[in-house]
Amino acid sequence: MSETALRHGSEPETAPLANEDRTRLLLDVIQRNRFLPHPDPDSVFVGDGDFKAVGLEFLSHFIRMGGLRPESRVLDIGCGIGRMAVPLTQYLDFEKGRYSGIDPVEGGIAWCRRFITQAYPNFAFQRVDIAHDLYNPKGKISGKALKLPYADRQFDFVIMTSVVTHLPPDEVLVYLGEVGRLLKPGGRLFMTAFVVDPVAAANESGRRDPRLAFERHGDGPCWFVADLPPLAAVGFDDGFLDKALERVGLATVLKSLGHWRGQAAEHYQDVFVAECRAGGR
Ligand SMILES: C[S@@+](CC[C@H](N)C(=O)[O-])C[C@H]1O[C@@H](n2cnc3c(N)ncnc32)[C@H](O)[C@@H]1O
Repeated sequence: MSETALRHGSEPETAPLANEDRTRLLLDVIQRNRFLPHPDPDSVFVGDGDFKAVGLEFLSHFIRMGGLRPESRVLDIGCGIGRMAVPLTQYLDFEKGRYSGIDPVEGGIAWCRRFITQAYPNFAFQRVDIAHDLYNPKGKISGKALKLPYADRQFDFVIMTSVVTHLPPDEVLVYLGEVGRLLKPGGRLFMTAFVVDPVAAANESGRRDPRLAFERHGDGPCWFVADLPPLAAVGFDDGFLDKALERVGLATVLKSLGHWRGQAAEHYQDVFVAECRAGGR
């Protein structure tokens, strides 16, 4: 855990050593498993990095930072082409665990249905035709008026990895409202983001990812990268996401700043883990 990690509110349960041993063993077994499905590299549209290694890294974060359990009911918003889902097939309980993935990109959902759902029927994938300038420019549903196709209070764990890093603030607020509706009390959101704090904004470390020279857009809260389309990488003022989570009844239990800003951390993007309060909103 990085030194920049802040913990407050209800602490995620500290796993006993036996659990940590089990987690380490499981991650090792998954890493050596040569039979997990892997999309053709040319069809991977969810970012650079090794598909399997990134998925495995996040499985570790979901368990160790987020408190994910094998029997959890998981929603993966912006599931892409199954980078998170593939390693989760090795962790979620075949009978009690459930996974639902949703994304606007048809090809990603088709691949996941073919290579994941066929072997793991507790993994379901759904395409939603949400418009996005880069991922789904002809989409018919506006992200500003979105209702996800699930009933209230169904999920224990919601994943949004590298998703709000591509959304405008009004859509982020809609999504977080939906997460507040969909999580069971005590359920958790695991979300990654680019939080543009003073260290990141001024590149105080001198080691910020050179691709992310964010510039503030107007009065904020957005930061974009000059010469890139605005939604290629979106940062937010520090505090914007914290307040948005609070407003929808989610208490931030972990905020851990990532090494994209040039400071030491065990993950690249910034991570929020937020818990749905007992009474909801
Ligand atoms: C950088 S990729 C990350 C994919 C996946 N979460 C992962 O980490 O492998 C961003 C994903 O967000 C999806 N996306 C874009 N706009 C979206 C929206 N409005 N709602 C849900 N997903 C969206 C894209 O289709 C894409 O799969």
